[in-house]
Amino acid sequence: MLRTKTGIQGLDKALNGGFPEGNIVLVSGGAGTGKSTLCLQFIINGAKLFGEKGLYISTEQNEEELQKQASSFGWDISELQKKGLLKITYFDIGSGENFLKRVDEMVKSFQPKRIVIDSMTTLTDALMISGIGEKEPFSLVQIAETVSPIPRTDQIISKTILYSLIKEIKKFRLTTLLTSELYEEFTRLSADGVSEFIADGVIILHYIGAGAATFRTLRVRKMRYTDHEKSSLTCDMTPKGIEIKQQEFNL
Ligand SMILES: Nc1ncnc2c1ncn2[C@@H]1O[C@H](COP(=O)(O)OP(=O)(O)OP(=O)(O)O)[C@@H](O)[C@H]1O
Ligand SMILES: [Mg+2]
Repeated sequence: MLRTKTGIQGLDKALNGGFPEGNIVLVSGGAGTGKSTLCLQFIINGAKLFGEKGLYISTEQNEEELQKQASSFGWDISELQKKGLLKITYFDIGSGENFLKRVDEMVKSFQPKRIVIDSMTTLTDALMISGIGEKEPFSLVQIAETVSPIPRTDQIISKTILYSLIKEIKKFRLTTLLTSELYEEFTRLSADGVSEFIADGVIILHYIGAGAATFRTLRVRKMRYTDHEKSSLTCDMTPKGIEIKQQEFNL
């Protein structure tokens, strides 16, 4: 099977060689758990180590902010951009622009191998409020309103929007990371409680603090089409990015 390597040694090992190519993977975690860093690292490693083009779409940080985050880990984004291996785009959720149309255009013109959407939570929340696309041919809110026979609560509409979004993103057939906020009650794997079922894979990040001691963990909770490490892996946010600490795997 073809694999998309993350270039993060311990993670590739835990995934038995990388993400199965074309998988849509949800990266879920609370605030500051390292979702954006992991995604950025995935895209930058893809370009730098494997010569694969990567597209990073953020609804939360603009290009300058992502540059700043990357350079804090010593990653040179502009060099990869000049080589045509990396594209970073900020999508303003308040702009009223059709998200899927914009992504579709970028995928067609740039032809990336990997893609990141950071974050699904802000995106679906915004789609809920503004009904982006109501005047566009692709109206997610309209779809949500017509397909659901039960009373249309906000939650049902947001789930339907999310479902449609992920279904459309799947059509690109690219290895994709989507970030989702995870609230501190651990009963669900994403903020919406539905994307974990639609996505091919789920990675959960935790940042645990007890007094002055803190530690980070990463867990591959689900990964379709491959065996993977099931336990939580301890990791570190180092000056070079996320590193998985040396540990024995039961693969
Ligand atoms: N250069 C760095 N070196 C070490 N640790 C860092 C560095 N930059 C950020 N961090 C740590 O990573 C955390 C932020 O990581 P990141 O932005 O990837 O998290 P996130 O899950 O995307 O957060 P959010 O929910 O705010 O989007 C910071 O709170 C800090 O603890
Ligand atoms: Mg983030």
